Amino acid sequence: MTASFPPGFRWGVATSAFQIEGATTTDGRGPSIWDTFAAVPGAVAGGDTGEPAADHYHRWPADLGLLGDLGVDSYRFSVSWPRIQPSGSGRAEPRGLDFYRRLVEGLRERGIEPFLTLYHWDLPQALEDNGGWRSRDTAARFAEYAALVHERLGDVVDHWTTLNEPYPCAVAGYGEGRHAPGAKEGDGALAAAHHLLLGHGLAVQAMRARATPQHQFGIVLNQSPAVPVTDSAADAAAAARQDTLLRRQFTDPLFGGRYAPGLAAMFDGVSEFAFRRDGDLETIGVPLDYLGVNYYYRVHVADAPHREPEPALRTVADIGVDTSRLPDVPRTGMGWPVEPEGLTEALVGLHNRYPALPPLYVTENGCVYPDRSDFADYERITFLSEHIEAARTAAMAGVDLRGYFCWSLLDNFEWAHGYKHRFGLIHVDYATQARTPRASYRWYRDFIAAQRLG
Ligand code: FCB
Repeated sequence: MTASFPPGFRWGVATSAFQIEGATTTDGRGPSIWDTFAAVPGAVAGGDTGEPAADHYHRWPADLGLLGDLGVDSYRFSVSWPRIQPSGSGRAEPRGLDFYRRLVEGLRERGIEPFLTLYHWDLPQALEDNGGWRSRDTAARFAEYAALVHERLGDVVDHWTTLNEPYPCAVAGYGEGRHAPGAKEGDGALAAAHHLLLGHGLAVQAMRARATPQHQFGIVLNQSPAVPVTDSAADAAAAARQDTLLRRQFTDPLFGGRYAPGLAAMFDGVSEFAFRRDGDLETIGVPLDYLGVNYYYRVHVADAPHREPEPALRTVADIGVDTSRLPDVPRTGMGWPVEPEGLTEALVGLHNRYPALPPLYVTENGCVYPDRSDFADYERITFLSEHIEAARTAAMAGVDLRGYFCWSLLDNFEWAHGYKHRFGLIHVDYATQARTPRASYRWYRDFIAAQRLG
């Protein structure tokens, strides 16, 4: 595997604010939609909340030490919007900005490049109270927030990601109700997807207006290729619908200069797409410096009847598909099928579909398996090495791939699953906050060191 990644290829790990920080009421932080959602009985497994998470807000110096020992050259993290604007708008809370400034300076001292994500799902609750991402105003608020962070950290951060995975924000959050804010809507969820993209474009424009030449702007999308379970025309059409909802709803406006063909027809009677305005496509399609791809699994799709026959009552997730028929391949502890070739397919597929595609990074990839008492997680090592190999295959096929980030540095709050599922290279004992590197941490450290030697 050596000498096969391009020179300067980045090796990193990823985290997000709400999943690791804890300290949800510290230093003026306001409530986010995930605080509200986690307080709803039954919404999150085990009744888990954003406390204590990995208490990274207080333990970041030790966590920087673990990053340094790991030997990564890049670290992807997110800024908590409700730490910067506790009620979603207005002047910045200096204590919030100072926290990220200290973190970033600590990274730089260790020679680790910060990859900052502005939005990893923790919308200030005050904005949700005004409609959340259903509302066009939230896109404008997001651009203002982006400008505040960029103004304070632009001299120490070069890589600026607007959104992490708008698909689950819109579909799991406003369609299925599995994620915050827990809504089950059709038109509202489609509006949320549109306004997330609009907010992305407005934020890039706002930051670029005062950027220096080394600043890079990008977005992160989850990319699960859709595979029909049979070769019937009906299943092929179902897979195309799934792909339109999960991928092309986002990638076509971002990189293709058009709304995804087929999206409006899929939601005939559900939405009139009245939230689209002249000029939005130009804003959304602002040229980018990179696209981050998060890959975990492929989706296997069969045609199925809509669950709700009446279009006006349908949620955005009800597109006439059955995604429960998995192939006979190994599964992770999340039940996700292990298919490394899906990562190659996702990267090569983007490269082939969009001539104007910017350079790519794999910004998340990782897995969960039950722990052994000695934290010898050989399954994770196999998973990571097979997926890195799949990324290499894409790079060899001509994809401009610039880096790979493993999800995740630490065990963390896995959204609606709470703390039960552990994605970390480092085990976290939530009662004591003790950190114990797993075998995969040492494997990744040695792997990165070997890459550097060539
Ligand atoms: C991704 C999320 C990330 C984490 C992984 C497992 O969809 O971006 O926060 O939960 O899944």
